[in-house]
Parts: sequence; structure tokens; C-alpha cells
Amino acid sequence: MKEEVKKVEQEALNALKEVSDLAGIRALKSRFLGRNGILTGLLRKISRLPPEERPETGRLANEVKKRLEQAFGKALQAFEAGREETPADVLDVTLPGRPLAMGRVHPITQVSHTICQIFQRLGFEIVEGPDVELDYYNFEALNIPRDHPARDMQDTFYISENTVLRTHTSPIQVRVMESQPPPVRIIAPGKAYRVDSDVSHTPMFHQVEGLMVQENISFGDLKGILTTFVHQIFDEETSLRFRPSFFPFTEPSAEVDILCVICRGKGCRVCSHTGWLEVLGAGMVHPAVFEMIGYDTDRYTGFAFGMGIERIAMLKYGIEDIRKFYENDLRFLEQF
Ligand code: PHE
Repeated sequence: MKEEVKKVEQEALNALKEVSDLAGIRALKSRFLGRNGILTGLLRKISRLPPEERPETGRLANEVKKRLEQAFGKALQAFEAGREETPADVLDVTLPGRPLAMGRVHPITQVSHTICQIFQRLGFEIVEGPDVELDYYNFEALNIPRDHPARDMQDTFYISENTVLRTHTSPIQVRVMESQPPPVRIIAPGKAYRVDSDVSHTPMFHQVEGLMVQENISFGDLKGILTTFVHQIFDEETSLRFRPSFFPFTEPSAEVDILCVICRGKGCRVCSHTGWLEVLGAGMVHPAVFEMIGYDTDRYTGFAFGMGIERIAMLKYGIEDIRKFYENDLRFLEQF
């Protein structure tokens, strides 16, 4: 043990001769004299020696400790006398910095903004409505009475007898028309909720609602506006197809397909080999809706449309599973 103590002393002194910077001296001091230092470790072991060896070994170890403390103290003093401490002694400025993680706008919000911007340039005004909606606005005022089979089209989350999580953004149409006379030209983005979940459905999703009401609005205006929109959000080669459909609040109603943006109509997995993709519901506002609001049905006509934002985003970015938008996987989100 005594030999070992002497050896440690020599080692420490030799090592001290080799270092020439403040950080090096400090590191060495802590290596030998620190709380987990080599000499400190030896001092602790003394109590386990046979009783007759303890006093002498103890004395030697304490002397060595004192000598080393002096040697380190002197080295530090000499160093500090010669020179001011610089940041480089305590901080390695050559280490690469840690990048700040930057947040970014969610892809669904980005696509929603893009869609709204296109309609804003066409003179539409952005409005919003509540997610928790009265049954009246979500259904009744849209010509879907209680017990009407059309209620089955949408699997509704009920909050209470008269309140629902809106199943579409169409109730915003009614709220806007109630609050102002024509002309109306609005675009309304927002969340919608349905009891549904698979690769192409999430219980919460996003829609954009459009509504235009004034004198002499025809189905031709609807086609013109939607064609302009599709050409801008995708490209000029993306043609549209209007298929007759049914919604209780529009007559006539149509489902709008676009030429498959993946295969350009040749047929692929994404378009189920039809060459077309359904992206929108639309139609001329049903007179029954105008009547409930009190708009003059002899004077005004209008069109409305609704589209799913996730659907547009999936097609725009080639995403196959809608759930990716809601898993909050940064590797996914950081691509947008
Ligand atoms: N609200 C309908 C839906 O969610 C879409 C739609 C909106 C259809 C406006 C026609 C007019 O399915």
C-alpha cells in the first residue's frame, strides 16, 4: 500500500509537468484529489488495513496528499499569475452548436391556407363557425329533418339531444346567410367530426365550405369557379368531371371528380383503376334552405360546395394513409 501511495504521487507529479493549460491542470487535480480521485480512493482503503499498518500508511498518504495539493496549487497560481483566464479554458468553442428545433405550420393548415387564398383571390371572404353545433344548423336548417334517412349519411357524435360535433362545415353556410342579405361569397375552413376511422377516415378531419349567393347564379358559375380552383391547386391539365349526386341541401347536386393526379387517367391503385378521384360535393342551394332563412327564392340563386382538406393534401403530396397527419411523427411533419 505504501508503495502504491508513493507511485501515485510520482505519477501525479509527472503528469503535472506535461500539462500547460488551466483546464488540463484542473482536470488532473480532480483525477488525483477529487472526490472520486485516485489518491482519495487510496485514503479510503486505509481503514481496511491491518491495525499495525494503519498509522504509518495513513501518515504517508496524508503527507502525499498535502504535497500534491501544494504542487497543484502552485501550478494553478503560476498559471493565473501569468495570464488571465479566458473562456476557452472553461468552454470549448470549437464544439458544434446545438441547432434550435424550429416549429412549422402543419401540412393540413398549409393546404387549408392555400385553398382559402385561391378563393380569396376570386373574391370570397373567409369565415368560421363553431365546432360544437346545434342540431338545427348541422341538420334541420340544411333540409335534413329529424328522422330523415339522410342523417344516416353522417355518423354523428352527439353532445346532447340538440347539440352535435358538426359533421360537416355546411352549418356555417346557414349561420352566414342568417346574418346578412345577399350577395354572399364565403369560404369557410374548419374541423368536422364523424364516427369513422380507417386509412382514409379519421374521426376528426377538415373541410372547406364554399357558398355564393346572388342574382343570376347558375350551375355554370359553380363549374367555372371549381375548374379555376382545381387548375390552381393542382395544374391546368387536371380536368374535372361532375357526377349527379344527392345532398338534401342542394338541388341539383353533384359529386366532383378530378382526373387522377397520380396516373393522369390511365388507372392506378390510388384511383381504384377508374382514372378519376372524387374530391368535392357541390350543388345549387336548395330553395327549402333559402326559405328557412328568409331569402327571396324568386330573386336569388346560389351554389355551395364542400371538400375534405386531408383528401386534397394526400393527393397533393402523395400520402397514402390519412392517419399520418395526426400521429405527430416529426420525421413526417418536418417534410412540409
Ligand atoms: N356537406 C357535404 C358533406 O360533407 C358536402 C357538400 C357541401 C355538398 C356543400 C354540397 C354542398 O358531405
